[in-house]
Amino acid sequence: MKKSLPSLLLAKISNALLVSLAFAALSSALLPSFASAEAETNSDIERILESLSLEEKIGQMNLIAIEGEPSEQQLALIREGKVGSIIKVNGVANIHPLQKLAVEQSPSGLPILFQEDIIHGYKTIAPIPLAEAASWDLSAIRASAAVAAREAAAAGIHLTYAPMVDVTREPRWGRILETSGEDPFLSAEIAKARVLGFQQSNKHPHQNLLACAKHFAGYGAALAGRDYSIQDFSERELRELHLPPFQAAIDAGVSSVMGAYTAYDGIPATANQHLMKDILRNELGFDGLLMTDWETIPNLIKAGVAADDKQAVQMAINSGFDIDMVSSLYLNELPALVREGTVSEALIDNAVRQVLRLKQRVGLLDSPYLYLDEKREKKELLSKRNWRSTKDIARKSMVLLKNNDNILPIKKDVKSIAIIGPLAKSKVDLLGWWAAQGEEKDVISIYDGLTKFYGNKIDFSYAPGVTIDKFKASGGELIAEAVEVAKKADLVILALGEQHWMSGEGGGTASLHLPGLQEELAQRIAQVGKPVISVIVSGRPYVLTDIATHSTALLQAWMPGSTGGEALAELLSGEHNPSGKLPVTFPYHQGQVPIFYSYKKSSHSFDAGPDNNRYTATFRDVQSSPLYPFGYGLSYTNYEYSDISLSDTNMKRDGKITASVTVKNTGKQKGREVVQLYIRDKVASVTRPIKLLKSFSSVTLSPGKKKRIDFDITEDMLSFIGADLKRTVETGDFIVYVGTSSVDLKQVEFALVD
Ligand code: BGC
Repeated sequence: MKKSLPSLLLAKISNALLVSLAFAALSSALLPSFASAEAETNSDIERILESLSLEEKIGQMNLIAIEGEPSEQQLALIREGKVGSIIKVNGVANIHPLQKLAVEQSPSGLPILFQEDIIHGYKTIAPIPLAEAASWDLSAIRASAAVAAREAAAAGIHLTYAPMVDVTREPRWGRILETSGEDPFLSAEIAKARVLGFQQSNKHPHQNLLACAKHFAGYGAALAGRDYSIQDFSERELRELHLPPFQAAIDAGVSSVMGAYTAYDGIPATANQHLMKDILRNELGFDGLLMTDWETIPNLIKAGVAADDKQAVQMAINSGFDIDMVSSLYLNELPALVREGTVSEALIDNAVRQVLRLKQRVGLLDSPYLYLDEKREKKELLSKRNWRSTKDIARKSMVLLKNNDNILPIKKDVKSIAIIGPLAKSKVDLLGWWAAQGEEKDVISIYDGLTKFYGNKIDFSYAPGVTIDKFKASGGELIAEAVEVAKKADLVILALGEQHWMSGEGGGTASLHLPGLQEELAQRIAQVGKPVISVIVSGRPYVLTDIATHSTALLQAWMPGSTGGEALAELLSGEHNPSGKLPVTFPYHQGQVPIFYSYKKSSHSFDAGPDNNRYTATFRDVQSSPLYPFGYGLSYTNYEYSDISLSDTNMKRDGKITASVTVKNTGKQKGREVVQLYIRDKVASVTRPIKLLKSFSSVTLSPGKKKRIDFDITEDMLSFIGADLKRTVETGDFIVYVGTSSVDLKQVEFALVD
């Protein structure tokens, strides 16, 4: 009879100890851990390691993808103990037989770690990550990750390939939708919230997921937005822009990291020992599991840095990669490489320890079927609680960009609304890319959300206006029909945007104009003369200059997920007040890209001034400023900022001063305002940005109410990457800006002194 892992462990450990170990294993990663329990579990891992053959050890480093029915060959690999992890099998019913096979029939009985891309929800789909970033609400973001974890864990999954913590300034890059935008500080705060949300926010440890911060490092620097493309950036940029969110994820206890497809300084991440060892392990202090991205080991051959499979495998293992994602090259090549002495078995042991530790952290070593409970799965997926929480962040994610004549919220005297546009009835596009097991049938479309919200109080009509199933789709007659529909309504809601496949992995676009004839549609509808509220469904910032011109109000809804239509109706109706702020700059013209708020200071002005001075860092043909800046977003109410002050005009190193501002709701509706603090270093030994986000805080105020907001300013907020590429702080003068967006700010100054 084959040994199963529980029996293997039972032979070695007494029952009483097993109970305490089970508890310790569950709690050590996900709750504060106890040193003595950890010591026990470490020796437990050592015992398992000793019992494994070389092939079984390497099997633990092998991650396979099973899409659809498993093949005979895949089943054989599991039976032989040559599979440590599986991706793309979801749901208790599908996972259970595979786990049973591993536990009951493989020689070691070691259970499999099931991994998946749970990027913004499992069944109840949350807004895309970029949209969530627009909420600037860390507890809502954390709660959203916790919902995703609860659902995915109930469906048998142990580890998610999230959070994606890449920072990008490239809207043409399809994967911008997975990021938290352009700013390293905001991205770092969100990375931390998501790691905590996935790993430790649910009450019971087995309702949580192991998180994986990806893609280390610099994947967001995609040149011209082409995925997997060449890129080249300095070590300074690596440190200033790309590393901070990884550091935050690591500090929050992220259990794994995924390497990038791309190269840093000419060396692909999978072969980059400097990046993986010197920086990730030694400098950032990451001691968890490192995995490759999809087939990045054989990619080393395609990229021309390895001659063959053997060399590629050596490069990856020597760079510290513990898991090979789906190439099978570790499995095929490592046994011989170890036997001939080219790769040391100690390296293999270290990798296997990492895998076993993760299995232990989720309780698999003690209870391999812990995540496999069909009743729990049924109860958890799409539960009311998950829907509520997801709708909360969907509402907070949407950003009101324009609201002329306070046309929004929709007034009580509106009797008829025409909902026009290719996104009006779409469901799949609201789910967006990486929608895991999200299904169209569970999505509330924009049309359904509004008609359900208003019932028969308002007469709704509909016309698609154009089709956009291809980038160049047409719609001449459809536009004419939509114009007729618009003429008969009091108000038009124009649902524009992109289809879900147009953004996401491999979703690079050269044009940043809405696909098809949507700009023409907006123009023709505007000519009808009715108020037009444009709602944009997209995974990236599009150039909305033309659309904004033809809209009375404009709202960026992103790809808002399952609850999108409901959330939108609650905002447009005024039941809730929009509070989202852009986590990324919206360009005025696509030729401005890359455009972001934190340019480094330049010898020449970024503003051509009233005389349109040629000798400035500006364009001759279009304005240099964006259409909508980073941090921008309107509300149905107004906020007044006053009394900005500092507790001291001098701050000592290691000291602290406080910046304060009073925010008053001067409008007529309760609202939540995100108050942003930026700092400029006036003179430094290295060129510094004109301003950098350093803190933010949100305040909810009823009409007429005001509140003083305090921000602590500490020395680390003034630090930067010095000439020697190490973090440093220099004394001197600083400007503190506080306000409602990156361009609408009040300022005060202080000096850092020795
Ligand atoms: C992506 C990763 C993803 C992996 C597994 C890759 O193509 O770059 O982000 O986690 O596939 O689906």
